[in-house]
Amino acid sequence: MEFTATTTHPPVRVARSEAEQIEQVVAHLQQNFAVNPADIAVVKAPLRICPLGAHIDHQLGLVTGMTIDQSIIMAFAPTTNGLVRVESLNFPSQVNFQLDAVPPYGKGDWGNYIRGAVLALQREHHLAHGLVGVVGGEMPIGGLSSSAAVTVAYLLALEAINRLALSPADNVGMVRYTENIYIGLKNGILDQTVILYNERDHLTLIDCESFEVERIPAPAKTDPYEILVVYSGVTHVLVGTDYNNRVTECRAAAESLLGFAGEAIPADPRLRHVRPEIFQAEGQRLPDKLHKRATHFFGEMQRVRDGVLAWQAGDLRRFGELVTASGESSIKYYESGSPQLITLYEILRDAPGVYGTRFSGAGFRGCCIALVDPAARESIAEAVHRRYPAAHPQEAQIYSIHYCQPDGPAQLCG
Ligand code: GLA
Repeated sequence: MEFTATTTHPPVRVARSEAEQIEQVVAHLQQNFAVNPADIAVVKAPLRICPLGAHIDHQLGLVTGMTIDQSIIMAFAPTTNGLVRVESLNFPSQVNFQLDAVPPYGKGDWGNYIRGAVLALQREHHLAHGLVGVVGGEMPIGGLSSSAAVTVAYLLALEAINRLALSPADNVGMVRYTENIYIGLKNGILDQTVILYNERDHLTLIDCESFEVERIPAPAKTDPYEILVVYSGVTHVLVGTDYNNRVTECRAAAESLLGFAGEAIPADPRLRHVRPEIFQAEGQRLPDKLHKRATHFFGEMQRVRDGVLAWQAGDLRRFGELVTASGESSIKYYESGSPQLITLYEILRDAPGVYGTRFSGAGFRGCCIALVDPAARESIAEAVHRRYPAAHPQEAQIYSIHYCQPDGPAQLCG
């Protein structure tokens, strides 16, 4: 990944390479913890984008994703006395606990992810060894799924140390426990599934109902593309945003639609349980807000299906149009997106060389992503610098532009 070489807004940071980042976390671990260098290992869990299939994983929909060449990286070593102690290069204070006394969830505490990961594993496995670790990563937080990535990194590290052989599907379940049960975020399985399964230059398609995962290669004739990430400067955690409210609204829409159609209502109704014909026939009876959420769901399902065909055909233009339409649906019907994200979406939508753009992730904070023609890098960055800080002066010194490449799955390094 590279940062744009511009002298305008905002100050330009020099990105470290992955090898430099690994060196940094290893050096920090050696300095701060008395570990035997031979015991040190490194795990990387890449961040992800979701070009199509936004906000529908929790309704058991079809979603797509891809990892990027920016990761959460952790150097770690085993402990023999049950200690878990982790430091972050980006967050203050150490996380520190014993395997047999995992503290409860703490609001806004970055230690939640390793505590949740330990508890998730302990439900089915014995953990004989804890770990000391140092976590690093270069990207701004928000929308790229750093929470799922760091949880995957902890899981892979704890599993390696304890010689546990879990499949990617098992680890999807472990992250789900951490987020849904321990943390209380009612999200779906998009993030960790992409992080655990994606192959470089593939689009990962996930059916969140059947849990079928398909990795679809980009055909050789696909036009050149790269992934642009523009960080808005706005960062909040998802618990406490409208994320969970939207999930509840989608479930209410599903329950009402099934009821209108006289169909059996499952204990935990989701929009995937509703056939599209039911929505067509009965949708108008929904209150406006629920009608909008369902409109987003059924539209997004169709965009994913169409997008997969476009991807398989190497038609990036068509794929991109669908991504931009998905972004519009998120604004209009899912009603997510802060003013900053909406401005970025509009700037990128209008910029020549952008195949498609939308908010990344939940869209209540963080980043806008775009698939772009590498030849248009400079002009796209120029459009962002010209319009974004003028529209959002508070963010003028914080927003940032990152050009990324597709990447593979989470893994132990070396
Ligand atoms: C967040 C959640 C995911 C998914 C996306 C929106 O990243 O963690 O489960 O719902 O938002 O698509």
